[in-house]
Amino acid sequence: MAADPRYRTDLFRGVAPYYDAFRPPYPPEMLEDLLGRVPISGAGRLLDLACGTGQIALPLADRFVEVWAVDQEEGSIAWGRSTPRARALTNVTWLRGRAETVELEGPFELVAIGNAFHRLDRNVVAGRVVDWLGPGGCVALLWSPVPWVGRAPWQPALGRLLGEWMQRAGATDRVPPGWEAAIDADPHEQVLQRAGLDYVGRFEFGREQTWTLETLKGFVYSTSFLNRGALGSMVDEFEWELARWVTSFGPEGTLGEVNSFVYELARAPA
Ligand SMILES: C[S@@+](CC[C@H](N)C(=O)[O-])C[C@H]1O[C@@H](n2cnc3c(N)ncnc32)[C@H](O)[C@@H]1O
Repeated sequence: MAADPRYRTDLFRGVAPYYDAFRPPYPPEMLEDLLGRVPISGAGRLLDLACGTGQIALPLADRFVEVWAVDQEEGSIAWGRSTPRARALTNVTWLRGRAETVELEGPFELVAIGNAFHRLDRNVVAGRVVDWLGPGGCVALLWSPVPWVGRAPWQPALGRLLGEWMQRAGATDRVPPGWEAAIDADPHEQVLQRAGLDYVGRFEFGREQTWTLETLKGFVYSTSFLNRGALGSMVDEFEWELARWVTSFGPEGTLGEVNSFVYELARAPA
């Protein structure tokens, strides 16, 4: 089995305000569906691993007595913890730490990993998740769509534009080569099963979205690979070209897409 690719540990530096403002939230109906499949008691604990600014911890906090929100980047933790939503909660502990090494005590009823499992040393983390879960506890991998992947003609064109800018900005080291091949060769389902978890399934929730120049730019700045830090002194030039590119597709508000949020669920033996 080939080792998972390694990502730099500072890729989200400076992105927290953009991540918070411009990443479309997980659909409430998807979170409800997830909670309906996890045996939550109302007295249990949630671990949001690689939590970013709290995309899972915050909307689910009132369903658990205790929530741990863990991420390796201080900027994300600090931003998440200071949001009005987080400040109104008393049961969330924010902790800076790496999923592979952070010291945490189980049991958790649910370990949720949003848009991040591919960034982790999956075998190590899956093994740790098994230790953290109580009997019958669940791990959920949540995935959001990205605007440059989809069937609308503008989406692959956007992908090409962002790829060109990664080259121009010298940011290509932000995505390790072969990351998709590594997942194809050893899918998440297989990794979770090998760790001793029962794979329950993959659940998909379609949505429609229209992007504007502002929301698209905000989304790009929330990424690991073409945020403002990655662009450096080329920010103004990039913004000018993105504006020109968006306009070339028609009037504001015409960049529509149909796409899906997804979660994968696996359960520890009861
Ligand atoms: C794309 S963001 C996902 C944020 C949020 N969980 C969500 O659902 O959208 C990926 C996050 O994973 C974190 N991350 C990446 N590798 C990590 C690791 N080894 N341990 C902890 N956090 C990690 C990054 O710092 C970043 O905040």
